[in-house]
Amino acid sequence: MNQKRVALITGAARGIGNGIALKLAKDGFDIAIMDVLKYDDIKDNIKIIEETKATVLYLNGNITDKESREQVVSDIMKKFGRIDVLVNNAGVAPKVRTDLLQMTEESYNFVMDINLKGTLFLTQTVANQMIELIGKVDNYRPKIINIASMSSYTSSTSRGEYCISKAGISMLTKLFADRLAEYGINVYEVRPGIIFTPMTEVVKGKYDKLIAEGLLPIKRWGYPEDIANAISAFCMDLFSYSTGEVINIDGGFHIQRL
Ligand SMILES: NC(=O)c1ccc[n+]([C@@H]2O[C@H](COP(=O)([O-])OP(=O)(O)OC[C@H]3O[C@@H](n4cnc5c(N)ncnc54)[C@H](O)[C@@H]3O)[C@@H](O)[C@H]2O)c1
Repeated sequence: MNQKRVALITGAARGIGNGIALKLAKDGFDIAIMDVLKYDDIKDNIKIIEETKATVLYLNGNITDKESREQVVSDIMKKFGRIDVLVNNAGVAPKVRTDLLQMTEESYNFVMDINLKGTLFLTQTVANQMIELIGKVDNYRPKIINIASMSSYTSSTSRGEYCISKAGISMLTKLFADRLAEYGINVYEVRPGIIFTPMTEVVKGKYDKLIAEGLLPIKRWGYPEDIANAISAFCMDLFSYSTGEVINIDGGFHIQRL
């Protein structure tokens, strides 16, 4: 069995997930990544994590696919014999922003299958594996952390399917927090605001303008490191009497202002 704690981070080939993987590697975790992107296309992002001396297991897989989800958990168990932390980060925006009155079922299914359904069933599989490991791993303190969004509670009528999926993630946090508390598996949620990644660089002009006009109390973009630091804090076991807890990493966006 692996001596170091092991974190599985979905969608960590790039963007926020990659920042989280790097931070947890620096914190002393070994890392498993599940992502649809081909290793050869993102290998530089993986090498940066390996430079911390962490072992990185890169697993090509799609969270919408049951076989793929089960394969990932079985590969991690084969390699490390344990999973200590699951970070549910993989997610997509709609391919095209479309007004709610024209949203297509195809776009709804694409976003919901990845962001909500895939995440729900991967969490179920990993949670069952974590329950099996209780009593077998020394000092085992498993945790699940969901990456939701400011869109969990904010309406954007040109990407309603994304908002619905993230509101669903916030309920998923509550449900699993409630169900897994008896096993000592705490569940947390991070709600990023406007974070500079490949997902948002296509709308950079729009958000540059909104930030300059005062949308956020803290007048800057967020970066993957901002999210990674919050995940790192949750993994430090300083919140053991809290579960279902949510932290906004959004430059203060969630504050209602007059
Ligand atoms: N960037 C932001 O401003 C922002 C704000 C709020 C929430 N978020 C959330 O943060 C998370 C990461 O976003 P990001 O900005 O880094 O985006 P990103 O597009 O840069 O990264 C997403 C990663 O998920 C992977 N992925 C997509 N579909 C997958 C699937 N079916 N199976 C496995 N992996 C898959 C992608 O290949 C990619 O590596 C997402 O859940 C997103 O909704 C981002």
